[in-house]
Amino acid sequence: MNERMAAFRARLGGFAFGGDYNPEQWDRRVWDEDVALMRRAGVNLVTLGVFAWASLEPEPGRFTFEWLDEAMDLLHANGISVDLATPTAAPPVWLSHGHPEVLPVMADGETFGFGNRLHFDPVSPRYRHHAAQITGALAQRYSHHPALAMWHIGNEYGPTAYTPQSAVAFRDWLRRRYGDLSALNDAWYTRFWGQRYTAWEQIDPPAVPRTWSNPARRLDFKRFVSDALLECFVLERDIVRSYRDDIPVVTNFMRFYQHADYWKWARAEDAVALDIYPDPGDDDAHVAAALNFDLMRSLRGESWLLMEQAASAVSQWRVNNVKRPGRMRLGSYQAIAHGADSVLFFQWRASRGGHERFHSAMLPHSGTASRTWSEVEALGNELPLLGAAAGTSGTAHVALLFDWDAWWGLELTYGLPRNDFDYTRLATEHYRPLLQAQYAVDLVSFDSSLAAYTVVVVPNAYLVSDRCAEALARFVEDGGTLVCSYFSGVVDPANQVRQPAYPGAFRRLIGAYIDEYWPARGDETFELTFADGTVAASDWWQESIHPETATVLARYTGGFLAGRPAILDHRLGAGRVVYLGTRLEQTALRDTLLGAVRDAGVAPVVDGAPAHVEAVRRGEFLFLLNHSDSDAAEVRVPAGVDLLTGERVGGSAVLAPLAVRVIEEIR
Ligand code: GLA
Repeated sequence: MNERMAAFRARLGGFAFGGDYNPEQWDRRVWDEDVALMRRAGVNLVTLGVFAWASLEPEPGRFTFEWLDEAMDLLHANGISVDLATPTAAPPVWLSHGHPEVLPVMADGETFGFGNRLHFDPVSPRYRHHAAQITGALAQRYSHHPALAMWHIGNEYGPTAYTPQSAVAFRDWLRRRYGDLSALNDAWYTRFWGQRYTAWEQIDPPAVPRTWSNPARRLDFKRFVSDALLECFVLERDIVRSYRDDIPVVTNFMRFYQHADYWKWARAEDAVALDIYPDPGDDDAHVAAALNFDLMRSLRGESWLLMEQAASAVSQWRVNNVKRPGRMRLGSYQAIAHGADSVLFFQWRASRGGHERFHSAMLPHSGTASRTWSEVEALGNELPLLGAAAGTSGTAHVALLFDWDAWWGLELTYGLPRNDFDYTRLATEHYRPLLQAQYAVDLVSFDSSLAAYTVVVVPNAYLVSDRCAEALARFVEDGGTLVCSYFSGVVDPANQVRQPAYPGAFRRLIGAYIDEYWPARGDETFELTFADGTVAASDWWQESIHPETATVLARYTGGFLAGRPAILDHRLGAGRVVYLGTRLEQTALRDTLLGAVRDAGVAPVVDGAPAHVEAVRRGEFLFLLNHSDSDAAEVRVPAGVDLLTGERVGGSAVLAPLAVRVIEEIR
């Protein structure tokens, strides 16, 4: 945690609790009720002004800060700190209409016009100019306001534009990456289909929404867009820092968000902040949520901020289910268990109009006479009991590779043996058994150090960097255990098949070569038998594997590849690689993965807990969460005190359905 965040934490003195506050939507007399109820609910931080550009600068250069002055003063007088947003995610109509070149053109050639939000081309000089102006004006006015605790830049950065100015910026980005055109032609393998470029000006964004374009060009465009958006963040960050340098600056990330490489973004911020809306209609949603939380913690290797969640239902899906009683509390503690130092919501008071009028809020349309309010108020008043756990983090001995380059390569560049890979689903499949067996897991990128880990899990890393391949080889040779699944190590960062194939980068690592990838036909399933006689099934994918130095852990017992290897076990140096050449059904994947983890000597956070119990450690604090709404669970725990009840525990603790226990260990 850097000094700015340490100061922020000291100021809040525990967990932050609150949410987006949009007073500009309400008459002034409502504000007094707002702050009175905020105090009642234990709110100590609100995010102000996220979409307020039109209310702050109704005409170019004419600022109307009076209402914001009053809101900041009122909040401060009530002991509530402010995470002040730059409003640049919602450019006002005078900018969109006066300068249509700020609007993004979508891949299909349609202009994304005014009337929504995020209607800006991130590389537009005009957009950046006006974004810088409003940011500077805000920073000048509020940098030293006593309520200011944090800067919130923009909101959920995401637009991609296929405009002429985007083409110019893309070429500049490519020039910086490749230096000269022949390097680009080589990297993009433009000798195929005669795509050789002879001048930079001939290169355009891959706008045509067809899948048969150059795969290296598509990949570079994704990298470029992530960088272009990051430039917008950095531009505003540097402006607010130029007025005052000791206030943390963040923006809000999204769940499994593909358009921005968050490993890179996290380094540009003072803390990672996440917006997450697990679907209350999906009983399994907490698994992917946990993975996202672990990813957020891993991005900077420290605690992070839960910037937005829903108090109950959202409004953007076809059917928007409510969070049943106890679920909002459980989900909030789940985020905390995985390292969140805040529980913040979108939004404080439900809007009476606009697209999100049915989105839940801390204070719903029915006011305090509502279940949601009662649960929000109860949580806000309970959180201070855990104050000592804020800022702490745990340690994991298992790491799971999650990298945006690997993701983009697998899903967005097409022309693969099958083109329906779902990277986040595959990552979640590999993560689930670990979560449900109560193992602590960190996420790692191509560039992470692996020194702290005993086991590394690599789900479907079709594209890997040389650095990553070398780091994994060293990790195994030095005694680590690697579990790697199919179609990994195949191409380099330019999306070219590594020679000799396959799996070029991992051939020595897995101790085998593959001469053909065999996607399944339709619903085809495959039977396989492990060396110990266990029979299992798989589907979706097979490979024609030829072991070189590996031994065979399981073979197909039917179909065209009958008798051929499906799973390999390879001893390399002082370590081991388990290679999964097919998509194992859940139980077999669980047993293989957990078997490797156990063989490597890694212990779970608690022993023998059922799969619906999540156990996560933050320093001395053990979080136990029961995700079942019908089954209680008994869990073996160390001697300690349950911070939520004050009760002394030891030996075993009972968790009622949906219960949370936070045990401070006594050593
Ligand atoms: C995002 C946005 C919010 C709101 C919510 C709705 O997280 O940042 O402004 O639209 O989604 O769930």
